[in-house]
Order: sequence, then C-alpha cells, then structure tokens
Amino acid sequence: MRIFLILYAFVIVATVSILGFRGSLTRKTPIEVFSDMDRQAKYKPQASNSFFDDARDDRPIPPNTVARGNYHNQEEVFSADYIAEGISSTVYRTGKNLDGSFIETMPISASNELMQLGRKKYDIFCTSCHGAAGDGNGVTKPYGVLAASYHDDRLRGETDGYLYEVISNGKGLMYGLKDRITPEERWAIVLYMRALQFSQYAPADRMPEQQRKEIGL
Ligand code: HEC
Repeated sequence: MRIFLILYAFVIVATVSILGFRGSLTRKTPIEVFSDMDRQAKYKPQASNSFFDDARDDRPIPPNTVARGNYHNQEEVFSADYIAEGISSTVYRTGKNLDGSFIETMPISASNELMQLGRKKYDIFCTSCHGAAGDGNGVTKPYGVLAASYHDDRLRGETDGYLYEVISNGKGLMYGLKDRITPEERWAIVLYMRALQFSQYAPADRMPEQQRKEIGL
C-alpha cells in the first residue's frame, strides 16, 4: 500500500510538471544544461553599435563599389572568370533608354537556350496566373485573379522594354518579380512571351504547308 501511494504521488507530480504548464508563458530564464548556440555575439540589422562613429550596425557600401551581380549568381560572381555581361548596363537592367522611354527590342540576342530558359521561368513564375498559353487562364482564375491575356493588340504592340518593366515591377494587381528573377531570366521570359503571342496570332502564310492543309486554309 505504501509503495502504491508513493507511485501514485509520483505519477501526479510527473503529470502536472510535464503537462500542467504547457502553453503558459514565463519570463524566467529557462534552465540551460548546455547553452549550445543560444547566445552569440553578433550584429543585428538596423541596430545601434557603439563601435562605429556613426553608431550604426549596418555599414555603408564603400565609395565607388561596383556591383558584380547579386545573390542569384553568387558562385559565378566569386569565380575568377566571371564577366558581368550586361549587368553594368542600365538599359539591360531596367529595359529603359537613358531618357526613360522603354527600349523597342531586347538588348540580348535571342537563342534557343534563352527561349528554353524563358519557358522554364515562365512556367515557374507566370503560369499560375496567366496560364500556360498566356491567355489569362491560370489556376488562380477561379479564385478571382484576373490576370491579363497577352493576346490583345495593345500587348502585342508593346515594346520589349515595357514587358520587362511589368515583370520587374508589376502592374496594377500584379506584384513585381525582380527580387526573384535575374535580368537575363526576365529577358528570356520576354522572349518566351513573344513566342506565346506569335503562337496564337501567326499569319497563315507562316504555317507549314501541311498544317495549313489540315485546317483547310
Ligand atoms: C499572382 C498572379 C500573377 C503572376 C504570378 C503574374 N502575373 Fe502578370 N498580371 C497579373 C494580373 C492580375 C494582371 C493585371 C494587372 C492589372 O492590370 O491590374 C497582370 C498583368 C500582366 C501583364 C499586362 C500588363 C498590362 O499592361 O496590362 C503582363 C505583360 C504580365 N502580367 C506578365 C507577367 C509575367 C511575364 C509573369 C511572370 C514572370 C507574370 N505576369 C506573373 C497577375 C499575375
């Protein structure tokens, strides 16, 4: 009987201590058997710091620093034979002429690889809203996202620079994607969008003879 009482008391104490305080908050420092890496000397963004004269943790970029890429292409940036093609060109990065107008045609030359890259990135970043054919029939349509179709005269007539601008900074309800897509990938997407537009609006005489016959033209 005594053993039973001791066990009983033990079970109650164990249950209360393990489950009883779940979810309750305490301001006391937790008991720390091993502190692991809980506390480390570090500088936090936008915090103050008595070490520097201006008392800021964030250090300003040294004067005359030239960007050599961004976090998208770190490996290349730090390799010896990296050449930042285009990245130093404002036109390439912004899609705009120096007077602020959009450039007519994309500043890099089209190739099959670029088209494939554009397709891949389009599938990842645009299909959900704009649909695989760029007609605005993405999977988000039933939920009220009315993404534009690329197949209207206005967008067919828009400059490459303008399309690049929409991808970079968004328009209306569409958010910009420049934080996720590099300039090269954005131009690749522009190229692929042109292919999509052409796929829905090709003049009949550009079709192969065989296909024209099949649809009776
Ligand atoms: C979250 C949904 C969404 C995603 C993802 C998205 N868009 Fe859009 N897009 C929209 C909506 C909504 C509009 C209509 C914006 C408006 O006019 O308010 C639009 C408009 C556009 C337009 C037409 C702009 C104009 O002048 O009318 C283009 C071009 C475009 N998107 C390209 C893209 C490309 C390329 C991608 C992928 C890189 C993309 N969008 C990703 C929702 C999206």
